[in-house]
Formats: sequence, C-alpha cells, structure tokens
Amino acid sequence: MDTLVNSDLDYQSGFGNEFATEALPGALPVGRNSPQKAPYGLYAELLSGTAFTVAREHNRRTWFYRIRPSATHKPFTQIDNGLLRSAPFDEAPSPPNQMRWDPLPIPDNEMDIIDGLVTYMGNGDPTAGGGLAVHLYAANTSMTDRYFYNADGEMLFVPQQGRLRFATEMGRMEASPNEIAVIPRGIKFRVELPDGPSRGYVCENYGAQLRLPSLGPIGSNGLANPRDFLTPVASYEDEDKPCQLVCKFAGNLWAADMDHSPLDVVAWHGNYTPCKYDLARFNAINTVSFDHCDPSIFTVLTSPSDSPGTANIDFVIFPPRWMVAENTFRPPWYHRNVMSEFMGLVHGQYDAKPEGFVPGGGSLHNCLAAHGPDVDSFTNASNADLKPTFQGDTMAFMFETRYLYKLTRFALESPQLQKQYFECWQDLKKNFTGN
Ligand SMILES: [Fe+2]
Repeated sequence: MDTLVNSDLDYQSGFGNEFATEALPGALPVGRNSPQKAPYGLYAELLSGTAFTVAREHNRRTWFYRIRPSATHKPFTQIDNGLLRSAPFDEAPSPPNQMRWDPLPIPDNEMDIIDGLVTYMGNGDPTAGGGLAVHLYAANTSMTDRYFYNADGEMLFVPQQGRLRFATEMGRMEASPNEIAVIPRGIKFRVELPDGPSRGYVCENYGAQLRLPSLGPIGSNGLANPRDFLTPVASYEDEDKPCQLVCKFAGNLWAADMDHSPLDVVAWHGNYTPCKYDLARFNAINTVSFDHCDPSIFTVLTSPSDSPGTANIDFVIFPPRWMVAENTFRPPWYHRNVMSEFMGLVHGQYDAKPEGFVPGGGSLHNCLAAHGPDVDSFTNASNADLKPTFQGDTMAFMFETRYLYKLTRFALESPQLQKQYFECWQDLKKNFTGN
C-alpha cells in the first residue's frame, strides 16, 4: 500500500544552501555521491540546474536517491495547452495602453492548478533562456495522480486565495496567501488545494534563477533575510499506480504515462531546491526623511539579465509599512519607466489606487506607459496632514522586467479587462498658477 514518510511540513532554513536530508535513516550516502550500490537499493540521480562550469557561487545541483530513476516513463505526447501561452507571444498586437483586470472567476468544473493556468503576458524565449511569462490561476481541484515539471522556466507562485500544498521530489511544503513558493525548473511536483477554490499568480522565469538581491549600502541585514526561506525535508511516495507526468517544454504541454509516483526520492542533498517564504518577514527599508524611494528598495528576489543592474525579473512587494516622509507627496509619483510593471494584489489596498485594483486582479503598465495616482489619490495625498501613518492592510507586488511585455489574446479580450481604466486619470485638473 501507499507509503508516505516524513509527510509533516518540516523545513530546512536558508537560501541556496547545501541541504542534506533523508526520510529513512542511512538513505543518504556519506562521502561520495554515487556509491557502487546506494543504500536501500536506491538509484542515484543528478539534477543540475546550472551549466556544470558556471561560477561556484551560482552553481546549483541536487543529488537524488530514489526508488526508480526519472527515466522510467513512457514517451511524452502533446496535450492541449488550454489558456497557457508561451513565447513568442505574437497572438495579437500589444497596445501601449495602461491595462487592468478583475480577478479570474473560480471555475465551475473540476480544474487543477495546471489546467487553471491562464497566461496574460510575457516576453523573451524559454528556448533561449531569457524573459518570463505572467500567469494567473483559478482552480478548485487537487492533483492526485497527476504530476508536473516545467522545463521552460522556474515558477514563482503567489497565492492570493487558498493554500497551495506542494508535494515535490524534495518533500512537502505549503504556501498560504501572503507567502510565496518557488519551484526551480525541472523539479517534479503536484499541488493540493486544501481550501478548495484557489486563486493566485505565477511568474514563470525563463532566465537566470531567482536569487536574493545584493544589499549594497544597506549592509548585511535587511529586505528578505536568507534564514526565512524554507526548503522541504525529504519525503517520498512509494506508490505503484497509473499516473500522468505533465511537462511544459518549448512552450507546449506534454504528458507521459507512468506506473508509479515520480515523487519517490528517499534522500537528497544539494542546493537546487524548492523553497517558500513568508512575505510578512520582509524587513522593509524606506525613507525616514523625504521623497518616495524607487520600488527596487522592496525587491524580494531578482533574476539578473546579462547587463548588470537591469533585471530579467525583479519580484518586488509593497508590504505593510510606516509612511513618515515630510513635505512629500507620499504615494508613487507620476512616472513613465523603461522597465515594464505587472502588478498584483494579495490583500488590502495599494496606496496609489484605492479602488479598482482589487485582490486577485492585476494591472500592467508596460514599457514607458504613463501612469500614477488616480484623481482621488492625488487630491488626498496633496492635502494630507503628514503625520506618521501605518499602512497595515496591504500586500501588493510587482513582476518587473527590463523587457516589454507582450499580451495574450486572453488578456486583451477577456471580460476581466477593465476597459474604462484610463478614466481614472482623465479628471486630473489643470492646477497651473503661472498665469
Ligand atoms: Fe509604476
């Protein structure tokens, strides 16, 4: 019958550490990676997440000790992509407009998180190793005999409604709303939805693996601290049953039949691992004098591009924080940025847009699209009594990228698109007093 060992949600702390964990005593070989015979009759298997010869500080790989090697699956055949899209994102011309969407409805029919992925935009090319895709999901069904891995990109999950319980090759982890989960490319997993109807966001990173940003003059502490990232301990399924392994590869979904659970890793060691992080642990650093800092001060994780300082992706949050700036327009000012900004909201309100930008929805201010506070935000912030205030109920975030986002047909035509979004700026009056 089924065996599930170490099924509790136990974690190891640290970011990119060399972890070592075993679900059975002595299952992890000591002193060598591939002994002639691995303990318990296990197979040794290497998963490399970076080129072998990349600089040591960026090298990521994990050794698995598993019941059967990953090669034991039938051939993959292509399956329907649903609303999942990938590069070159050329379904339709992308307009330069500001755009905003209502949340996706929870589906009526049974839908797991893979079927529930809906692509809104993206850029780059998974076959060339740069760019990203922005997906939203709405789902209501746990994956049971279905497993998934993504050869195209690393997946950053931002649940907005409902917990995500991941069973992965490395073990189990759970992400609640206000937490994130990161699954590097290639790692097999399934997702259970213990709360039923669930909704959230996924950033699919085709580029360099997400990492903690350099802290520069901030020093050795602050923002997201490494010890708050949690990686599962080894846990395995010894289940002989018909199941399906779904793979995203070169922009399409493929499925292969298997006769056993692929989550059969009894022990592993390495630094190529999934992890989770509680956004409430983010140490927000901000102005204590005047002006509004650039949002890069709130970077949780970054995927660098080949040009230093210009990110393939910055995952940025706008967490609960004190506002204390004096003689300052405190919300974000009006701006046009060469970096493209997709924003989502986990809960609460975002200070530049108290209405219309709702939890589970999204907005896009693409490369050089003009935007900023709506009329009420401008009026209120211009006349506010600037006492210290705590903005407590908020968790907005941004998938910011150096590359222009190209939209999918769904994003352009879906009923969730707020076609009247532009109106929020039309009543900004001329206040000029020069004449
Ligand atoms: Fe912006």
